[in-house]
Amino acid sequence: MIDPLRARALLGQAELLYSETEVQAALQRLAQQLNSVFVDQHPLLLSVMGGAVVFTGQLLPLLNFPLDFDYVHVSRYGDGKLGGAMHWKVEPRENVRGRTVLVLDDILDEGHTLAALKQRVMALGAARFYSAVFADKQHGRIKPLQADFVGIDLPDRFVFGYGMDIEGAWRNLPAIYALPVIVALKER
Ligand code: IMP
Ligand code: MG
Repeated sequence: MIDPLRARALLGQAELLYSETEVQAALQRLAQQLNSVFVDQHPLLLSVMGGAVVFTGQLLPLLNFPLDFDYVHVSRYGDGKLGGAMHWKVEPRENVRGRTVLVLDDILDEGHTLAALKQRVMALGAARFYSAVFADKQHGRIKPLQADFVGIDLPDRFVFGYGMDIEGAWRNLPAIYALPVIVALKER
């Protein structure tokens, strides 16, 4: 667990990238898109824990079509800031068979997480795979897949808040912050 004083210091020096108001506006736009596409598809929504917890919890009540809900739990970052091996805590299961699956994740970074999820979900016999990510990191490198629905774009920096953690902390923030560039570089 991160030292609470360090957690407060990290937030204190962080840069606000998207305010709560801006996050909520993006969420509304995304919900409207999903509402127009999934009208009568009755998809199975798969939320990727833990980062998608806030996005999912705020998105679901804005959706006005029938849906089923389930989750997977995979972590790639652990508590560090560089993407490492993928660790599945809860894997996708047989209930995806024959379904239109819509995966919800907090952020599309290198894209390894969503690509692995797509491969597993399709191997289990899903009929269609869609993904909605709240944020898409713009790093200029090729991603193995693009998200079908995106809330906001983010610069290539380590971000936290709105479900995303820094050393395990601050998933609970309603806005999105980035570490100052100098600190981020020093810690890498
Ligand atoms: P990818 O496999 O590189 O696309 O990583 C995606 C996953 O890594 C997301 O589900 C996030 O949980 C996590 N992640 C990626 N970038 C960040 C970040 O800047 N801050 C916090 N978590 C991140
Ligand atoms: Mg995640």
